[in-house]
Amino acid sequence: MKIIEIDGGRKLNGTIRISGAKNATVALIPAAILTDEEATICNIPEITDTNDLCDILETLKVNVKRASESMIIDPTKMENIEITEKFSKKLRASYYFMGALLGKYGKAVMYFPGGCSIGSRPIDLHLKGFEALGATVTIDKNKYTVEAKELKGANIYLDIASVGATINIMLAAVKAKGKTIIDNAAKEPEIVNVATFLNNMGAKITGAGTSTIKIEGVDYLHKCFHEVIPDRIEAGTYIIIGALCGNPLKIDNVIPEHVDALISKLEEIGVDVEVGTDYVIINSGENYKSTTIKTAVYPGFPTDLQQPFSVLLTQCNGKSKVIETIFENRFMHIPYLRDLGADVTVKNQTATIIGPTKLTATSVVATDLRAGAAMVAAALLAEGTTRITNVEHILRGYEQLVEKLTGVGAKIRIKEI
Ligand code: UD1
Repeated sequence: MKIIEIDGGRKLNGTIRISGAKNATVALIPAAILTDEEATICNIPEITDTNDLCDILETLKVNVKRASESMIIDPTKMENIEITEKFSKKLRASYYFMGALLGKYGKAVMYFPGGCSIGSRPIDLHLKGFEALGATVTIDKNKYTVEAKELKGANIYLDIASVGATINIMLAAVKAKGKTIIDNAAKEPEIVNVATFLNNMGAKITGAGTSTIKIEGVDYLHKCFHEVIPDRIEAGTYIIIGALCGNPLKIDNVIPEHVDALISKLEEIGVDVEVGTDYVIINSGENYKSTTIKTAVYPGFPTDLQQPFSVLLTQCNGKSKVIETIFENRFMHIPYLRDLGADVTVKNQTATIIGPTKLTATSVVATDLRAGAAMVAAALLAEGTTRITNVEHILRGYEQLVEKLTGVGAKIRIKEI
């Protein structure tokens, strides 16, 4: 079992460079099988989610060449084989193979996806979208068979602006006959990145990044080269760490517009932030003001940064609130934050945090990916040595976390016990 140990209470100084976005990468890799030639993707982060998707590509007999941060995916000899339960369950984003295989072959067989247990996370909107395109969906326990003789463009309204459903429907629709319109589409930057990738192959997608996406089906998708955007959630996590311990901390390779909601909140509570063209510099301070954050779809405050931000709220004067509106079960880090010394109560979907409180090291658990990021942030601030278990969750999403933090002066190590 791997654990992370952090000797906290140190100021961090230097530069952290942000990697390619996990949530874009995990959609781009399955999307790549749609090409009829080969696709090159660069700036791919080295995280376990990437490796798990490559394992799925291998079982589908897709040729993959990896060199440092780039990947050449050649699906010309691939076979449409059932994705086993073991592979489907390894990560949430395995579900993008459903849309991609359906788009390419008119059939996909796989199991309910895995991922963080932060809510029930149904995939009904994905399936309704596939059905609207003319597919039939058969569910046998955990196994999903989605097939269509021919996919036909359709008008699809999403009841919830779901990131996963928007991308999955886009993947199925790029080769469908005629025009598909997705209304109430999610607007996250990762969706724009995937649409750009598909357009680079010859797809005809317009409106990505707005709530109406239009897709004109095409027959053939050619060779292409594409770059993954910087990870706005990784950037946000280190920016929050900067507000806790930066002296100063520069976060480089950021698209500032993608972290607007976070920066606004930091300015509101009194954090010293400088925003450059592709970087953010943060100095930690004292006497931060309390605030309320309410998670929302992009460009609102991201649910993925709610947990790390709650650590910062323990250092604000007075009563702060975190209102989670996207997932039902995203406060699993709170008991551990309390063990570290925070004054937090949770009622329904709202956490109330009274600060400032001194944090003191103890043993904590990374219950999910971003809860793990919150534990790392808290441990960097806490006096003493904090041990974090279940760190597999953290390694799924943060490239070279230990190396990046060590590079700015943190005392952090990963241990096998
Ligand atoms: C993606 C991100 C995740 C982020 C989330 C919200 C990936 C791999 N993961 O997750 O990091 O926290 O967006 O920004 O990109 N829903 C349904 N039915 C569906 C689909 C979704 O009810 O068919 C609900 C979900 O349970 C959730 C809400 O819609 O309550 C939003 O989910 P969604 O945007 O789909 O999140 P994911 O794609 O799972």
